[in-house]
Amino acid sequence: MKVISRAHPNIALIKYWGKRDPVLNLPDTGSLSVTVGDLFTEVVVEASPHNTDLLLIEGQVPSAAEATRMVQLVRHFRTLMPDAPPLKVDSYSNFPRAAGLASSASASAALSLGLDKFLGLRLSRQVLSTIARQFSGSGSRSLHGGFVEWRRGELPDGSDSFAVPLAPASFWPLTTFVLVVDPGPKEVGSRDGMNQSRATSPTYPSFVIQNTADLEVARQALQDRDLALLSTLSERSCLGMVATQLTSQPPLYYWQGTTFSLITSLRRLRQEGLALIFTTDAGPNVKVFCEAATTPILRQKLSQLPGVKQLLECPVGGPATVEMLP
Ligand code: PMV
Repeated sequence: MKVISRAHPNIALIKYWGKRDPVLNLPDTGSLSVTVGDLFTEVVVEASPHNTDLLLIEGQVPSAAEATRMVQLVRHFRTLMPDAPPLKVDSYSNFPRAAGLASSASASAALSLGLDKFLGLRLSRQVLSTIARQFSGSGSRSLHGGFVEWRRGELPDGSDSFAVPLAPASFWPLTTFVLVVDPGPKEVGSRDGMNQSRATSPTYPSFVIQNTADLEVARQALQDRDLALLSTLSERSCLGMVATQLTSQPPLYYWQGTTFSLITSLRRLRQEGLALIFTTDAGPNVKVFCEAATTPILRQKLSQLPGVKQLLECPVGGPATVEMLP
C-alpha cells in the first residue's frame, strides 16, 4: 500500500511576518493567500523496507538541515500513533527553487495529508492545518485551494490558529506571474528574518496593527472581487513587511535594485490602466496577479521588462489531494 499526496505552494497578499509563539509557529497577525496552481509538491508514503524511517527528497537522502522539518513532522505523527510502522517518505517538488516560492509550505501540507491517510488517522483539514503550521507557518494555508485565510487565533496552544478556505479557485480565475530576479538562495531564511524583525524593528508594531485591520478589509474585497482595493491592501502589507525588514538590526535587504525597478514599472502599468496586484516575500522576486482578460497583454509587457530572468505563469490552484494505491 502506498499513499500519494500533493499540495500547491501559496503566495500571501496579506502577509504573515512575525510569530507570537516561535515554537508553535503562532503568528502575530492573520494572513490571506492565493494558491498557486500547476506547481506542487508530491509526497509518497509507504512502509519502510528497513526497520527505521527512510526520509528522502527526490529519491535521495537529504542533508540533516534539509531534512529537519520532515523529521519533526514524522515525529509529530508518531506521537499521535506511537505504534506506527517504520515509514518510507519521498518528497518531490515540480517547481524550480529559482522561483523563490518556498517548497516548505507545499511540502509540509502534502506530508501532513499523506501521513494522516497512510496511518488512517482521518484528521480534519483544520487539524492538519494546525499540524502543517508548526513546521511551516505558510504550510497551514497549503491544505486548501483557491483563496485562503490563516487565522491568527487567540489560544496559547494554537488549536485555533489554522487556515480556512475563503473562496475556491473557480470563484476568481486570476493569473499569477512570478518574475524571477535572482535564482540564488537568500541570505536569511524567513523564519530567522521575521524573528529578527519582531525583536528589533521599530516599525514592527505598526505593521501588526495595519496588517490586522487590512485583513478584515481584504476578506470583503475578495468577496467583491475588488481587484483595485486588493491591490492597495496587498501593496501596503508587502511594504509594511519590507519596512520591518529594512529597519531590523542588522537590516534585512531582501529586495535588490531590480526588485525596485520592476515595481516602478508595475506601478506605471497600473497607472496606465492595467489592473494588477503585486507583492514580494523574503526575497527579490516579484509576484503579480491579474484577471484573465488582462493576462495576454500583461504577459507581453512583463516579458519585456529588463532584469526578469524567468517568468512563470500559473492559474489559481485547488486544494491538496491524497490517494491511496494498492
Ligand atoms: O512560513 P514561512 O516560514 O515560509 O514564512 C512565510 C513568510 C512570507 O512568505 C514572507 C509571507 C507569507 O505570508 O507567506
